[in-house]
Amino acid sequence: MENQIRFRNKLNPTIMTYKKINLQNLDYNEQLLVPAYGQRTMDSDIPKYEIPKNGLPSRTAYDVIKDELMLDGNSRMNLATFVSTWMEPEARQLMAETFDKNMIDKDEYPQTAEIEMRCVNILSRLWNSPDHEEATGCSTIGSSEAAMLGGLALKWKWRERMKAKGKPADKPNIVMGINVQICWEKFARYWDVEPRLIPMEGTRYKINAEEVLKRVDENTIGVVAILGTTFTGEYENVKEINDALDKLNADTNWDIPIHVDGASGGFIAPFIQPDLEWDFRLKWVKSINSSGHKYGLVFPGVGWVIWRDKRELPKDLIFYVNYLGGEMPTFAINFSRPGNQIVAQYYNFLRLGFEGYKRIQQNSQDIALYLSDKIAKLGPFELVSNGSDIPVFAFKLKNKENFTLYDLTGMLRQRGWLIPAYSMPENLTDLVVARIVVKEGFSRDMANLLLDDMKRTLQHFANQPDHVPIEKGGSFHH
Ligand SMILES: Cc1ncc(COP(=O)(O)O)c(C=O)c1O
Repeated sequence: MENQIRFRNKLNPTIMTYKKINLQNLDYNEQLLVPAYGQRTMDSDIPKYEIPKNGLPSRTAYDVIKDELMLDGNSRMNLATFVSTWMEPEARQLMAETFDKNMIDKDEYPQTAEIEMRCVNILSRLWNSPDHEEATGCSTIGSSEAAMLGGLALKWKWRERMKAKGKPADKPNIVMGINVQICWEKFARYWDVEPRLIPMEGTRYKINAEEVLKRVDENTIGVVAILGTTFTGEYENVKEINDALDKLNADTNWDIPIHVDGASGGFIAPFIQPDLEWDFRLKWVKSINSSGHKYGLVFPGVGWVIWRDKRELPKDLIFYVNYLGGEMPTFAINFSRPGNQIVAQYYNFLRLGFEGYKRIQQNSQDIALYLSDKIAKLGPFELVSNGSDIPVFAFKLKNKENFTLYDLTGMLRQRGWLIPAYSMPENLTDLVVARIVVKEGFSRDMANLLLDDMKRTLQHFANQPDHVPIEKGGSFHH
């Protein structure tokens, strides 16, 4: 905790960037790294905030940094993140051997490009792209970049539609829930699109068709529906929204499309809820993003975005790079980016196959259902979701206690468990929940260890009737 506070003081409070440290305000020891075993291999201290004059032996540099990183949380006990924290040794080896590949160099690394193309093919088929259409897509650094690309295509296509009708195209809006991940708010702000956010209400923590219809109009570039919301892990009902838009579009000739943010669910639903219609089986779902580094089971960062047909990707968003004597179209925010995560994604597809993914995702879901059920039975908690969509669930306190979820998760952190507690967005800001993301690497045994620690923590608060609850927390919840 103290370490976190010290870290926050080095952040620029208004923008999430790092500020230049004024060295005059620091005493000698604060300016330097002073490795405990330094005298074996070196005889001087190392400045922290300036480049050292001379280098270090490689082993010493390794040890100094490795030691410092021991203060980070243990990623295997990080139940806050959706991002993969475990891969098998062969995958790690393959990734290490391909760290040197820059995925944008399609000419130099044509086989990496081929592998990326195979992954796009595999995903478009998993997401039921119809054979009469020509699905097209690419890798990204994660779902955030994929959301930017999906959103840009929606904006460009809407502009084309308005131009064709001879109407002004200067007031675009995008309709989505207030529960969207921050990347969608970024998209709206960075690309000057009015965000029309549907608030949460009562026990509705997601959007529905009725609320969507209240907000869309001719200037709506699209509706974002989330398959596995960041706040509760629930699926939004994409089919219901599709059917409502189908009728509205037929009545109005507006052609409002849907982009599905399947950051997590895109790699869950095809395997364990194959009958759920959320993907290109639905007419108005024009594009889908997902994070390879979440339930795609790859270390960060790789994401994917796929359009149901190449016509959904306006030509003037595409740039061309020379590729094996031909022209390779690219659509990306970044230029250089590691190729090894794409290689690792393909490794997982080959290594696991459909049945392997299904087994792993089902196992994570079984553990989520088991753990959420046990937590509900501990007494003070009530489930907000139970992990039956993606293997993620949230819970709240039933009644006022002498502790809050901020106290509970703070105590669990002392044992190494990283579990966020946060308040819900607008309309429900009084509701504080804690959320657990179950993913590969978190076993039923670990779930039982967590339950034991939760019981001990409850006992601790029961023994301290005078404990004053913490009312605010700053947990990172995405
Ligand atoms: C629903 C949703 N969309 C987008 C994102 C952003 O994903 P990434 O971290 O891959 O950029 C997240 C991350 O948690 C998410 O849950």
